[in-house]
Amino acid sequence: MRRRGVSAGLTPFQSAPTLRATRRDAILGTVTASGKKTLDRALSRTGACSRSQAREAIAAGRVQVNRRTVRDPDAWVEPGRDRLFLDGAPVRAQKKEVWMLHKPIGVVTTARDEHGRDTVYALLPPDLPWLAPVGRLDQDTSGLLLFTNDSDLAHAITAPASKLPKTYEVRCHGQVGDEAIARLSHGLELDDGPTLPAHVERLAGDERTTTLRIVITEGRNRQVRRMVMAIGSRVVALHRSRVGPLALDNLDEGVCRRLTMAELSALRSALATGRDPRRGRTNPGRAR
Ligand code: URA
Repeated sequence: MRRRGVSAGLTPFQSAPTLRATRRDAILGTVTASGKKTLDRALSRTGACSRSQAREAIAAGRVQVNRRTVRDPDAWVEPGRDRLFLDGAPVRAQKKEVWMLHKPIGVVTTARDEHGRDTVYALLPPDLPWLAPVGRLDQDTSGLLLFTNDSDLAHAITAPASKLPKTYEVRCHGQVGDEAIARLSHGLELDDGPTLPAHVERLAGDERTTTLRIVITEGRNRQVRRMVMAIGSRVVALHRSRVGPLALDNLDEGVCRRLTMAELSALRSALATGRDPRRGRTNPGRAR
């Protein structure tokens, strides 16, 4: 496996940092109507660290607000007015970064693995600001995994309401017939509720395995594997080739790269309109 693989020469993405309150923040009680935020959220929204890293740093006394140490991660602060310091240095909003990684099989989507397994972070360049994976892929799944420090964008991608299509190529054990494909397409019952309609097509098959392309607009835990189990088969190999308008194309396994401006605007437009501009088609399942 190639480590720390970064393909160069792509357009850097720069945008003004957003410290906008989201509806989700309000629901979670981590932001007020006047724009105040809990200290942990304000710190992580700068892109300096994850929310849990922020809570750890605050509890450890490493964070100051207006030069006064605050150890309560739930203390209210007003971004833009209150000045935050981490380890004595002023915390500035980081440049927003959005990267895609071609995740290989065998690495886990986590920052720290208690079993010491290889993690996706070993494949990111070391000089990037802290980035979080957008959703996750199982250890045994390969394919397109996004990373960003733009929490609004990450939330927009993963929110169930976005219905952003994710495309998987799935090799299933045995022969998968038309009836099973129809069940996958129409939606079937899983232990956490019925699945939304999916776009399913057969790509190849022999007497031992069947390869399907499955496009889902949800992102439930191990969803594709569970859908395939529900039709009486099991996944032999699972690969994610697209997330909305973004495609891995010929990005090598284990390599990551920053999204281009064109990709970012296609992604934002797909999120805003429910359309994949490349295909000009409404996200399947969005209107239901
Ligand atoms: N569905 C799965 O079952 N696993 C993944 O990694 C992604 C989607």
